[in-house]
Amino acid sequence: MNDLVAVDHPLIRHKVGLLRDVTTTTQMFRQLVNELTLLLTYEATKTLPDEEEVEIETPLETTVARRISGKKVAVCPILRAGMGMLDGFLSLIPGARVGFIGLYRNEETLEPVEYFVKLPADIAERDVILLDPMLATGNSTAAAVETVKSAGASSVKLIALIAAPEGIARIHRDHPDVTIVVAAVDRGLNEKGYIVPGLGDAGDRLYGTK
Ligand code: URA
Repeated sequence: MNDLVAVDHPLIRHKVGLLRDVTTTTQMFRQLVNELTLLLTYEATKTLPDEEEVEIETPLETTVARRISGKKVAVCPILRAGMGMLDGFLSLIPGARVGFIGLYRNEETLEPVEYFVKLPADIAERDVILLDPMLATGNSTAAAVETVKSAGASSVKLIALIAAPEGIARIHRDHPDVTIVVAAVDRGLNEKGYIVPGLGDAGDRLYGTK
């Protein structure tokens, strides 16, 4: 399928610009990640089926309302930077089950190392949405997709803030069924595997670490 949704909206462009700015404070950065995730979640859930019809009473009369039907959602932030996106996601889908995938990047090999996984028991029956702000080489996202697929997930999407073409190509090659929803696609990766122009290390900027 090779689906890439790069959301084109003035609010998103404005907030991504603030996010990139090196002078943006930790507090502001966190708030922007939250707001951008909410906007991207709105886009990523556009295809949720809502064919179920229920009769309800408004204060004035009886009418038919539509409800989201079909599979329930499991959201899985990739630790640690993905945690910064969780609240924004849950503010739109408060009933989602939450799974955690702990991966860190070996800074020499750039390969992901899995150190913690805790997923909802019924993940196979859910639409899975992974949260990771930066789709760089795609190594850790590909590992996270493999983790949820091994647990039985058959419908997987990724919400990222910024993606490099290399990471998009990697996910499209290894997991063509995974839809990627992003706020911006950048030029590429530098020699250290950072996205350029990017925003630096998303985890450090979210949590004020170095
Ligand atoms: N992870 C980050 O936090 N930033 C990048 O640019 C690449 C990977």
